[in-house]
Amino acid sequence: MTDKIVPRGAFTSKFGIVAAAAGSAVGLGNIWRFPYVAGENGGGAFLLIYIGFILTIGMSVMLAEFIIGRRAQKNALGSFKKLAPGKPWWIVGFMGIVAAFVILAFYSTIAGWTFEYLIQAIGNGFAGKDAGAISQMFTDFQTSTTRPLLWQLVFMVLTAGIIVCGVQKGIEKYTKMLMPLLVLLIIIMCIRSLTLPGASEGVNFLFKPDFSKISGKVILEALGQSFFSMSIGMGALITYGSYIQKNNKLPNTTFQVAMADTVIAILAGVMIFPAVFAFNMEPDAGTGLVFQVLPNIFTEMPGGYIFAVMFFLLLSVAALTSTISVLEVVVAYGIEELNLSRKKATIIFTSAIAVLGVFATLSFSELSEFKIFGHTIFGSLDWLSANLLLPLGGVFIVIFLGWVLGKKAIVDEVTNNGQIKMRFLRVFIFILKYIAPVAIVLVFLNAIGVLG
Ligand code: PHE
Repeated sequence: MTDKIVPRGAFTSKFGIVAAAAGSAVGLGNIWRFPYVAGENGGGAFLLIYIGFILTIGMSVMLAEFIIGRRAQKNALGSFKKLAPGKPWWIVGFMGIVAAFVILAFYSTIAGWTFEYLIQAIGNGFAGKDAGAISQMFTDFQTSTTRPLLWQLVFMVLTAGIIVCGVQKGIEKYTKMLMPLLVLLIIIMCIRSLTLPGASEGVNFLFKPDFSKISGKVILEALGQSFFSMSIGMGALITYGSYIQKNNKLPNTTFQVAMADTVIAILAGVMIFPAVFAFNMEPDAGTGLVFQVLPNIFTEMPGGYIFAVMFFLLLSVAALTSTISVLEVVVAYGIEELNLSRKKATIIFTSAIAVLGVFATLSFSELSEFKIFGHTIFGSLDWLSANLLLPLGGVFIVIFLGWVLGKKAIVDEVTNNGQIKMRFLRVFIFILKYIAPVAIVLVFLNAIGVLG
């Protein structure tokens, strides 16, 4: 196969790499998924386990993906094919492509919601509403059919529009400016949320671990959330890694991206849980949590109108910088492995994903009674990707790097062929080879009840 160069506009600088990878990591996973999953899994204890996973397994898998991608200079499937020719390792890449389908299908549902809320914010739709009315507004929207589908479609088209151009300088430039702004807005909202009467209950919920709440399920959810939030386990960072120059210090990049991701998730929790308790809501309200909580904060703060507009705008952008990384996994595969043009690959795969996406969106209305093992279609896709496909992908990625590609390749990549030192090299290799695979498998078996 010829080494066809994919247009790789964005990754021209060190900061561009971090911006793109952090753009992928930071998204609805932090602001929508983290609070609702933490809320359903007891809060503080969940947070602790979540952070533990990020620092050990999560960062190792992230670095592993960067290494594989940069070494192979290929898409997720092609990377395995190139580094282990004639072996079945490409299946891991293929699984990643399946995961990308699944993730984008349900992620675009929520991304569509952010557009609806942006429009509501622009139209001053939250003003004068109490918590009950705001919840009702969400339920009405969610159970309707046309608007959620329409917004989902708009979102998919936008994602495709960016990918079709290649990941251009535009995205790098905008993420660089917009992500810091998003953090600033979240901090302002945290302050408002923390100063609401009764806020301390929310702070306790998030930061005071109640160890009696820990179970196999909670641990699996924390693992799944850490993978989902860091964009690992499905080749998004292998693909992005293939666009990283040889002189980039991969361990540093990994650390920076992981920290940005974690800080934003924690801030999202600080923004949301005090308000949840202040407005007498339930932390385990599920997928609608942030949409039902955030508008209350806006109505309770001076300048709420402008903050609401900016916030939902930035949330949409954060979602978009994540969805492009997911679509790029599939499109890069289409270009390099199926010899499609970028345009063709984008159109074909976006359409296919959108079809699955319709079912995800309709799970909240027409198809809400349709359950698979007690989950709606949306719930199944969400669960399947975070708790099964990503951790499974992660296991194979670390095994591949630790046991198949081997130490020399790892050392070459993390030290840039001996030019720089890596501090935790031994620890990293140990985690790759032993801790991560065993831990992930144990967590999974425990959660599905095999270990009793
Ligand atoms: N990490 C993204 C988020 O937190 C979602 C994502 C998952 C992106 C998997 C790529 C791969 O929103």
